[in-house]
Amino acid sequence: MSTTDTTALADAAQTRPGSEWWRTAVIYQIYPRSFADGNGDGIGDLPGITAHLDDLVALGVDAVWLSPFFRSPQHDAGYDVADYCDVDPLFGTLADADELIAQAHARDIRLIVDLVPNHSSNEHVWFQQALAAAPGSPERGRYMFRDGKGTAGELPPNNWESVFGGPAWTRVTEADGTPGQWYLHLFDSTQPDFDWSNPEVQEEFRRVLRFWLDRGVDGFRVDVAHGLVKTDGLPDHLPSVDGDSMGGDADDVPYWGQEGVHEIYRDWNRVLAEYDGDRALCAEAWLPTVDKTALWVRPDEMHQAFNFPYLMTQWHAPELREVISESLRAFPAVGAPATWVLSNHDVVRHASRLALTAENPQGHGIGPDSPGQPIPEVGLRRARAATTLMLALPGSSYLYQGEELGLPEVIELPDDVRQDPTWFRTDGERYGRDGCRVPLPWTPEAPAYGFNTTGASWLPQPAEWAGLARSVQEDQPDSTLWLYRSLLATRRAEGLGAGTLEWLPGYGDDVVALRNGDVTVIANAGTAAVPLPKGTVLVASGPLAGDDLPADTAVWLRTA
Ligand code: GLC
Ligand code: CA
Repeated sequence: MSTTDTTALADAAQTRPGSEWWRTAVIYQIYPRSFADGNGDGIGDLPGITAHLDDLVALGVDAVWLSPFFRSPQHDAGYDVADYCDVDPLFGTLADADELIAQAHARDIRLIVDLVPNHSSNEHVWFQQALAAAPGSPERGRYMFRDGKGTAGELPPNNWESVFGGPAWTRVTEADGTPGQWYLHLFDSTQPDFDWSNPEVQEEFRRVLRFWLDRGVDGFRVDVAHGLVKTDGLPDHLPSVDGDSMGGDADDVPYWGQEGVHEIYRDWNRVLAEYDGDRALCAEAWLPTVDKTALWVRPDEMHQAFNFPYLMTQWHAPELREVISESLRAFPAVGAPATWVLSNHDVVRHASRLALTAENPQGHGIGPDSPGQPIPEVGLRRARAATTLMLALPGSSYLYQGEELGLPEVIELPDDVRQDPTWFRTDGERYGRDGCRVPLPWTPEAPAYGFNTTGASWLPQPAEWAGLARSVQEDQPDSTLWLYRSLLATRRAEGLGAGTLEWLPGYGDDVVALRNGDVTVIANAGTAAVPLPKGTVLVASGPLAGDDLPADTAVWLRTA
């Protein structure tokens, strides 16, 4: 990289306006069903989360994002919402939600909730009304109902495929018992897509936003934020055979990234602006480049957008340098922070993913028969190094529950416990995402490793997880838990989130070397150890070899 580029990067970072909390926050994703189970039924819940908030304070995060806990038949683990303004009894009550918000705020932890606007559950009252109503009725007009093709409408309206596999259309039976229209579902057949050109749908979501803002939430993670608007006329489209079905690898998909979505977020931006205290919207938008992703965070739209091009980058120094440079150009150019992320509930955990040796498109997951199985030790070493690099970068970062314990993907789940619709809709061809959703281990000797007191667990926990339990790692200074705590404390003390990045030359192609404020960061993604500059080690992702940085290791130093 030339000096001019470096200067441009630093300038761009400095021009970021504002000091809102979300520009620099470390946000911890809680997947409620797998975090902590307060009532022992095997499914995590809101009281379970409230009971563990002090563990998040000890970890040092600024905010929490909760995956959906709304009323839902749980065909897609709550991403199929039947009532956006109520808590599913599985997770607790509205009073439990209020208590969680209050308890988080009492600890200076912000709280954002998940908004699922692309589709509802088929059990949502609107969809039930649509099924009972006639073709062409206002009730059907809230969703994407179409007549089929073929002489008797027996063929789907187009060839779109569901993200989870199989067709994106399901045919309904009309009230008189005859085969009828088809409805669109980009995901499972229990997740009908809304028609976002309908003002009633638009108004309903303003109401939902206000409902949760009134209860005090600090913002929303917006599910499938690139999918709400579909190209007029719904033209045929087939995804690439082994592609990433969320759209992160493709341009010109008629249901991803359509221009019209931006007007929706400008509208929501105005709704959030009615409230005090820097409420934020974070886009889950899978797009092929950081420049495209940055369109979601223009000044009058959302505030953050997950940097999925970064998440998808292999443990490979030249590509890491490139995506980091691109990100710190593209996001600040529109006045937004870069929003880094390595794991979430939809991807193979990075303690396994970074050691995969075969292609693994997002959402496919890994199981016993997948090619390119990761070596666990290599995966964990790289994951610790990758997180050490990520948390040094200017901007905001998201963590996914369990990564602070170094949890790997669970590969050996028995077929009959799998629950991801992907597994069923592809007849087991894709394992799907259950392997990153296994309930957390808290203590080694308790039932379900302290996930609850009964031992019930909606997905079985591997026996090795006893050794990864939080209480075990508390007592081990070199544990992943203590690495995360040190990184977060040092990041805060050094103001790295609000810092600026400068590349350091001379470390070779396999190394990512940078400076952020007073901190020098060296990450070795190669196979040979590299000499470290003189300085004091602030944090290291693994043991150093004298004055050298071993392979798959990263370090934060204070140099002279
Ligand atoms: C998002 C969620 C994922 C869900 C899908 C459909 O990608 O993160 O878990 O299955 O949307 O709502
Ligand atoms: Ca429970």
